[in-house]
Amino acid sequence: MGEALIVDTLESWIRQMPKAELHLHIEGSLEPELMFALAQRNNISLPFKSIDEVKQAYSFHNLQSFLDIYYQGAQVLQTEADFYDLTWAYLKRASAENIRHVEIFFDPQTHTERGIAFETVITGIHNALEDAKSQLKISSRLILCFLRHLSAELAMETLYQALPFKHWIIAVGLDSSELGNPPEKFKAVFDKARQEGFLAVAHAGEEGPPEYIWQALDLLKVARIDHGVRCVEDPRLVERLVKEEIPLTVCPLSNVKLRVFDTMADHNLKQLLAKGLKVTLNSDDPAYFGGYLTQNIVSAQEALNLTAEEILQMMRNAFEASFLENPEKQALIQDLEHSLPVGPVSH
Ligand code: HPA
Ligand code: ZN
Repeated sequence: MGEALIVDTLESWIRQMPKAELHLHIEGSLEPELMFALAQRNNISLPFKSIDEVKQAYSFHNLQSFLDIYYQGAQVLQTEADFYDLTWAYLKRASAENIRHVEIFFDPQTHTERGIAFETVITGIHNALEDAKSQLKISSRLILCFLRHLSAELAMETLYQALPFKHWIIAVGLDSSELGNPPEKFKAVFDKARQEGFLAVAHAGEEGPPEYIWQALDLLKVARIDHGVRCVEDPRLVERLVKEEIPLTVCPLSNVKLRVFDTMADHNLKQLLAKGLKVTLNSDDPAYFGGYLTQNIVSAQEALNLTAEEILQMMRNAFEASFLENPEKQALIQDLEHSLPVGPVSH
């Protein structure tokens, strides 16, 4: 009785608290309904007969099995309006969840490889982000991810394509198939990107070993690690991440869907927090993994019995770890703290 009341209160607080999300692939927010609508608009035939059939295909056994379907889905994105509509659909949902700040990844190579201009992709996304700032009061930053299964030369070419738009892009990142594609492969690209004024992040330690996290820190000089959950296998690495306060953008539903952990109850995020790591919660590819940010927090809370203090800590971490300027961070953190209900959940 008492407990149910606490959980109830905790969940309603989670739903309405001001949020930030730092690990969201915009192509991974493509809902099957929009995929069908864009396929029709662009005269593309999909290998699925119905929306239900698409949803049934979303059963993954590892990262690669997801990526194959994710890249296929992205083929319906062709025009600037498509990229605008995709981004706007995400931002409307984000607004409904009281997401106040978002840092969005996009994968230009998924599109330029099929002949879509870099400018088409980024202009559609950027215009939606601008509209979200004025109409939804959501602030944002854009992060260009290189596809690590492709060559370093192609990544460098992509970086050069991005230079005319660099005022719209805060950082570069690294995603796609991790195993066999270590961060060291992209050292020269990241060196050049940092010279050009970009910040850096990288997916590391999702499926890959702790060594990849060391490389992301030492060779790519990243400000945050995306995922990073395998850091616990190396106590010296954990010590370094704690000491340097390197944020980890953890994605609970993604990790369960891609079998990084068998079930949510097996997820190590509570353990990461207890070690003093700067954990943040994120949705990764919400259209594919069964939930947006709020659902990620609620699912993790239920399975791991997270306390209000732990949730508050992770959301404060997200605002602090964001690429916002300090006064904007502080204002959002204040709003977060004011959202805390008085009563049982705050103890
Ligand atoms: N890992 C690697 N690549 C990705 C992911 C991810 O979680 N999501 C989209 N591309
Ligand atoms: Zn990701």
